[in-house]
Amino acid sequence: MAVKKLLSGTGMDRMPDMAFRAMSLIFRIRDALLHPDRKLEKFGIKPGDTVVDYGCGPGGYIRKAAELVGPGGMVYAVDLHELAVESVDRLVSARGIANVKTSLIRDYSSGLESGIADLVYSLDVFHMVADPARFLQEIRRIIKKSGRLILEDGHQPRALTRQKVQDSGLWDIAGETPGWLVCGPR
Ligand SMILES: C[S@@+](CC[C@H](N)C(=O)[O-])C[C@H]1O[C@@H](n2cnc3c(N)ncnc32)[C@H](O)[C@@H]1O
Repeated sequence: MAVKKLLSGTGMDRMPDMAFRAMSLIFRIRDALLHPDRKLEKFGIKPGDTVVDYGCGPGGYIRKAAELVGPGGMVYAVDLHELAVESVDRLVSARGIANVKTSLIRDYSSGLESGIADLVYSLDVFHMVADPARFLQEIRRIIKKSGRLILEDGHQPRALTRQKVQDSGLWDIAGETPGWLVCGPR
């Protein structure tokens, strides 16, 4: 049980560095074989949008997000793990990607301006979040009134994801797919 919890990161927020490095290696193989970034095409991202990858990890979704928002848009890659931010910084600098900025989350504060995001997506993260109310409050702060939050369940049942969103009192569930909820700010 403890090993399962460590591997999935459930309720953990910050993973130990070694676990983050192991995850990054596994995700590199995942990304090369399965191209999970194709799911971003289903999120309705438009050229010129400001998008936030909330809990970006090693950055498997960043290139696709940058491509979809185009040169007139911006992608913010945010994570509470220093290794995640370093990894995305390395990726964008190696590839010369100009429309991605990183930010290190500290104590549930993303450091981003209020009301800037057209879309926030948080993929394979929510099950890890120790304080979902503060997490959802911070995303509510940075999203536009017309914005949307794509929230994947990660390693938790849909009923628990829904419960946490409803308990926050800040979001309406506007839609759902087998993989994620689409939420709008209340
Ligand atoms: C399993 S990884 C997923 C990374 C990426 N979204 C992906 O799917 O490739 C989860 C990431 O969420 C981050 N994370 C955990 N708790 C978080 C929180 N409260 N706020 C932001 N990021 C968090 C972790 O540091 C980790 O990088």
